[in-house]
Formats: sequence, structure tokens, C-alpha cells
Amino acid sequence: MRPEAVAEIQRIRKRYPRGRSAVMDALRIAQAEHGGWLPPEAFREVADALDVTPAYCHSIASFYDMYHLDPVGEHLVEVCTNLSCALVGAQAVLDAFASELGVRPGGTTEDGGFTLRAVECAGGCGWGTVVAVDHRYRERIQAGDVTGIVEELRNG
Ligand code: FES
Repeated sequence: MRPEAVAEIQRIRKRYPRGRSAVMDALRIAQAEHGGWLPPEAFREVADALDVTPAYCHSIASFYDMYHLDPVGEHLVEVCTNLSCALVGAQAVLDAFASELGVRPGGTTEDGGFTLRAVECAGGCGWGTVVAVDHRYRERIQAGDVTGIVEELRNG
């Protein structure tokens, strides 16, 4: 990480009585520093900055959907498959993205263009299926919308 990023983590750490309380902010900063994902060295860097173990950092990062343990593609497509969205066809939406992109959920296309993920509740349960495309939520998505979304992203 750049020294500026480490300094930012140290600044945030001072807000809390214990270093471990700043781990989520620190992971967010580390992820941005490492191009959108958290390689093993990121956990060591965060651990060193907060006086915790890399395993503790990894346990937090592996729990939350917003942290990525593998490199992500140019576009990140996240389909909520939790209960409310599941009841209105989330699995069909996820399957349609997988088919359209040629990649399984959790994977990245060979050209590095897209990462597809199934995620837990996105907080828009009344407007399912919710799909986050590059961190912007789209609501009431149906399987029939998927081809158009992918075309839109491919065409920039
Ligand atoms: S279940 Fe999909 S947004 Fe809550």
C-alpha cells in the first residue's frame, strides 16, 4: 500500500479504542489500493497497521460481500439471491447472466470483462430482483432484461 493509505488507516484507527475496530475501513482502503480486491499481502498490511492478525482480517473480509478475495473484472455484476428476490425470480436472473456471460457465479470472464456474483440481501427487498452493476443498483430485474444489460455494458 502507498504510505498515504497506511496513514489514512492510522488516522481512522485513532477513532476507536482498539485497532481491530477499524478493520472494515482498513480493508476498504486496502482493497482500493490493490485494484479492487484483497490479495494475501493486503491482509498482512492491514494486520500490521492495526496490530491484529492477517487471519482476523481475512475472517472479516470473507464474511462481507463488499470485499473481494479474488481479482474482479472490469464490470462487477452482483445478483441478490436472498429470500425476497428469490421469490420473484432471482435464480433465473442469475442463470441468465451466467449464460449470457459464459461464466459461473463467483467467476470472471476469460477476457476480464465481467465478474458475476450472487450476493446476500442488497437492501431493496421490495424491488426485487435487485442487481448491482458496478455498485449501482438496478431494481425489478427479470431474466429477460439480462441480454440488454450485458449489451449496454459491452458497448460502454
Ligand atoms: S432479498 Fe434481495 S434486496 Fe433484499
